Amino acid sequence: MSVAKKEYKRVTVKSLVDMKKNGERISMLTAYDYSMAKIIDDANVDVILVGDSASNVMAGHETTLPITLDQMIYHASSVIRAINRCLVVVDIPFGSYQSDPKEALRSAIRIMKESGAHAIKVEGGIEIKDSVKRILNAGIPVMGHLGLTPQSIYKFGTYTVRAKEEAEAKKLKEDALLLQKLGCFAIVLEKIPATLAKEVAESLTIPVIGIGAGGDVDGQVLVIHDLLGMTKEFNPRFLRRYMNLYEEMGSAISQYVDDVKTKDFPNEEEQY
Ligand code: KIV
Repeated sequence: MSVAKKEYKRVTVKSLVDMKKNGERISMLTAYDYSMAKIIDDANVDVILVGDSASNVMAGHETTLPITLDQMIYHASSVIRAINRCLVVVDIPFGSYQSDPKEALRSAIRIMKESGAHAIKVEGGIEIKDSVKRILNAGIPVMGHLGLTPQSIYKFGTYTVRAKEEAEAKKLKEDALLLQKLGCFAIVLEKIPATLAKEVAESLTIPVIGIGAGGDVDGQVLVIHDLLGMTKEFNPRFLRRYMNLYEEMGSAISQYVDDVKTKDFPNEEEQY
């Protein structure tokens, strides 16, 4: 099957909106370091998200709450040094934008100035309206994130599918429209019913990028460690693993240990 695919030199927030208009799906993956970002950028992914999921997959925390603004800036600047093509979006971490709009703007400016990122992502709708407005007014592109918002995990209590009930679905639709009206360039919808995600994507002119939100949205995002099978315990229904790197890396490392122990490594050609 042939798919619509235009070559973009550098992906911008405008190219994402054009992709939606042209019916071209947007690919987005997380990255947190230089080496992984280089592979992802060379593979023609459209958007890299320096997600606060770094708190889980890089730092081993149970939630995304502990990661700090300084740590996000460190990850983002490592990613930026690898990039030729991708748009790089950075999660503004928990605690750095919820208290007041001025603090939100200061945090967003630090991300943009100190990392060189192209845009930021925020979790929430009406509750953070003034902060989103303030950041957008400063000329910083903002991506929204609705549905399962991991920074609010202690409010939800579980990582189960969100917005199954009518009231929550209604609020999500209103929040999505509000984020578009404020000027956000795209929205991530996480772990919500596919029919609801489709309805939201069809009602908006800005792209909707899903994770666990079905196929009728404008793009997909996954955590790179999950896609590559580097994580074993995380097995949601929406995850497609393209490799089993946990096993493959483990057996390569075991082989190295054997080779060292048996004095097979280094051999004659591997020394000076
Ligand atoms: O932090 C992250 O990786 C995310 C994605 C799950 C969308 O926000």
